[in-house]
Amino acid sequence: MLGHLPLVDACEFRGGEFPQGRASLRSDPKKVSWHYSRQAQHFFVSETRMSLSLKQWQQYVRPEILAMEGYVPGEQPQEWDVIKLNTNENPYPPSPAVTAAITRILQRGLQRYPDPLASEFRKKIGELLGFPPDWILCGNGSDDILTIITRTFVPPGGTVRFAYPGYLLYATLAEIQGAKTEPVLFRRDWTLPAEFALPTPDLRLVFLANPNSPSGTLVPPEEIAEWARKLRCPLVIDEAYADFADADCVALVRELENVIVVRSLSKSYALAGLRFGFAIARPELIDQMRKVKDSYNCDALSIAGATAAVSDRQWFETTRLRIVAGRQKLTAEMRRLGFEVPDSYANFTWNVHPQVKARTIYETLKSNGVLVRYMNFPGWGDGIRITVGTDEQITVCVELIEKLLQGRLPTPAPHGVIA
Ligand SMILES: Cc1ncc(COP(=O)(O)O)c(C=O)c1O
Repeated sequence: MLGHLPLVDACEFRGGEFPQGRASLRSDPKKVSWHYSRQAQHFFVSETRMSLSLKQWQQYVRPEILAMEGYVPGEQPQEWDVIKLNTNENPYPPSPAVTAAITRILQRGLQRYPDPLASEFRKKIGELLGFPPDWILCGNGSDDILTIITRTFVPPGGTVRFAYPGYLLYATLAEIQGAKTEPVLFRRDWTLPAEFALPTPDLRLVFLANPNSPSGTLVPPEEIAEWARKLRCPLVIDEAYADFADADCVALVRELENVIVVRSLSKSYALAGLRFGFAIARPELIDQMRKVKDSYNCDALSIAGATAAVSDRQWFETTRLRIVAGRQKLTAEMRRLGFEVPDSYANFTWNVHPQVKARTIYETLKSNGVLVRYMNFPGWGDGIRITVGTDEQITVCVELIEKLLQGRLPTPAPHGVIA
């Protein structure tokens, strides 16, 4: 394919044509030219002539954006007959109170703007967690909150540190910001080395998903408190899965001014499709983050639905316990089949088989109507992450894997690209 690309263009792409940001392009020319080559493969497939317009539009784009790959979300097939265990959604429908609240808003009408601060939700969640509303900021999913945090605290050229393997979005957010990324590798037992809390001059933000994804493992809050005391920048504890664990860092927000806790309603409240998340932090920090967010980042339906969801404590507790029971079953079954599975405190497990390739398992399950997440972390290894589904879904998934391991299931021919 690259044969279609005139060689001179490939050279020009290495920074010579960019009036702005030359330095940053040149600082990593290998990565940049590789990325452009990939773009070129895409655009130059049939028509060399397009190279002119390609060069033109590239000049409009910030070099950091051209150089990055962009976050790739998990597969989201829109057919509902797939057993979907790939993006840690809740397999149960949300509280009926959510539908009722959304219906009320629809009946009232959508012609007015929503409350920019989602005050109704902040008041309710504040009561539940023991914080005044001005310690809380709401977002369009917790991803929105993570974006707001990065934009608030990280200047271009600053460093963003995160634990690796972890949630891949942290690196993407840093790249968008023109910041440097500093992954700190988990040890093989999913503990973190002391360097994770090492204060360095350019360090502006540290992210930790706790429980972590993909491992499901948990760092004890006492250890996190020690790190926060050492660091000279905000430490973000991404607690998207904390409702499935028996410990969290909410109390640290009161104790330590640099701790920010981020929560999601996508998993434990079964509202991935509604998009709602929030941050808990000192009011001084929340005030700064508020300047950065979109004026109406949460819509009227999501504010009403999220408030109703957190108000239904019985639904929450029943569903949470069902997921925790499912997690125990899934962990036990996968270990019985010979997988290495760390103890999970989330609504998924991380599974590595010593003999069978993770990619083969993923593909075989997919061709049998079960979607799990194949994840490869260069420098660490790969595996499959399986969301805790209903009892029945877990049984179907485990039976398929067992058949595959026993050679009773045809494995699909490798087709190269894994989404
Ligand atoms: C660790 C972690 N943080 C944040 C999110 C984003 O969740 P939300 O749906 O609230 O944007 C995810 C989603 O999978 C996640 O795994």
